[in-house]
Amino acid sequence: MEGIKISNVSFSYENGFLAVDDVSLQIDSGENIAIVGQNGAGKTTFVKMFNGLLRPQQGTILVDGENTSDQTVAQLSKKVGYVFQNPGDQIFNRTVFDEIAYTLRYRKLPESEVEEKVMDAAELCGVTDDLKLNPYDLPFSLRKFVTIASVIAMGAKYIILDEPTAGQDLVGLERQRSIILELLKRGKTVVTITHDMEFVAENFERVVVMTDKKIIADDTCSEIFWNFEILEKSAIKQLPVSILAGRLGLNKKIVHIDQLIDCLERG
Ligand SMILES: Nc1ncnc2c1ncn2[C@@H]1O[C@H](COP(=O)(O)OP(=O)(O)OP(=O)(O)O)[C@@H](O)[C@H]1O
Ligand SMILES: [Mg+2]
Repeated sequence: MEGIKISNVSFSYENGFLAVDDVSLQIDSGENIAIVGQNGAGKTTFVKMFNGLLRPQQGTILVDGENTSDQTVAQLSKKVGYVFQNPGDQIFNRTVFDEIAYTLRYRKLPESEVEEKVMDAAELCGVTDDLKLNPYDLPFSLRKFVTIASVIAMGAKYIILDEPTAGQDLVGLERQRSIILELLKRGKTVVTITHDMEFVAENFERVVVMTDKKIIADDTCSEIFWNFEILEKSAIKQLPVSILAGRLGLNKKIVHIDQLIDCLERG
C-alpha cells in the first residue's frame, strides 16, 4: 500500500480552465522520478494535488493507501512535502533560520529538536552561513535552497521539488543532485519537476512526460529521449549526445556522455 497512487484525477481552476485532465500515475516508495513537459502542461497543478494544496474535482489520490480527500493540508504535509516553483510563494519569515524552523515550531517540537533539524537541512542545502539573513536578501538560487531546506526539515517521506534547477549554475545543479541522492539514501521518495534535460539524463531513470493536461509518457530516460513522437509532442529537444550517437550510427539509445564514450571505446 506504500506509495502515491493517483487515479483519473482532473482539476479545473476557478475560472473554469481545465489544467489536468484524467491523469493517473503510480509512484512507489523510494522512487526517484522526473516530471518534464512544456510550460503550462499542468505539472505544477498536478503535483499540488498530492499534498492537498489543490483538490481534484475528479479522481482519487491515495498516499500510503489513505485517500487525500479525507485529510487536511496540515495532516498531508507530514507525509508529502512540496517545494514551491516560486520561492516567493513559500517564504514569509524574516530569517532563513525562522523560515526553515516555521513548521517545526508550529508543530510545537522542543526548540532543541527544531535546531537540530534546521541545522541538518541547512547543511544539506548549503545555507548554513545564511541562517541569520533575511531570505529576500539572498539571490534567487539560494532562496530556492532555503525553501528546499524548509521542506526537508519537516521530515516528509515524499518530497516534491518543483523546478529546483531553474536559475541554478553548475554548483547549484551539483548541490541539487547531492540533495536528491541524500534524500533517497534516507529512504525518501523524490519527485522532481524540471526543464533541464541534461539534469534529467544524469539523475533519473524514470521520466514522466506531461503535455497539454495529460501524461503522455512514463518510461525510462533512454526510451523517452529516443521516442521522437513524444519529443515532438512535448517540444523537448533530443540531447546533443543522443543526436551525436545517432549521427555516428551507434545502435544504442544513448543519453549520457559516459555511455557514448563506453560505446566508442568498445568499437
Ligand atoms: N490560478 C490559476 N487560474 C487559472 N489558470 C491557471 C492558474 N494557475 C495555472 N493556471 C493555468 O493552468 C495551466 C497549467 O499550469 P501549471 O502551472 O500547472 O503548468 P506547468 O506545467 O507547471 O508549467 P510551467 O512549466 O510553466 O511551470 C496553465 O495554462 C496555466 O496558465
Ligand atoms: Mg510549473
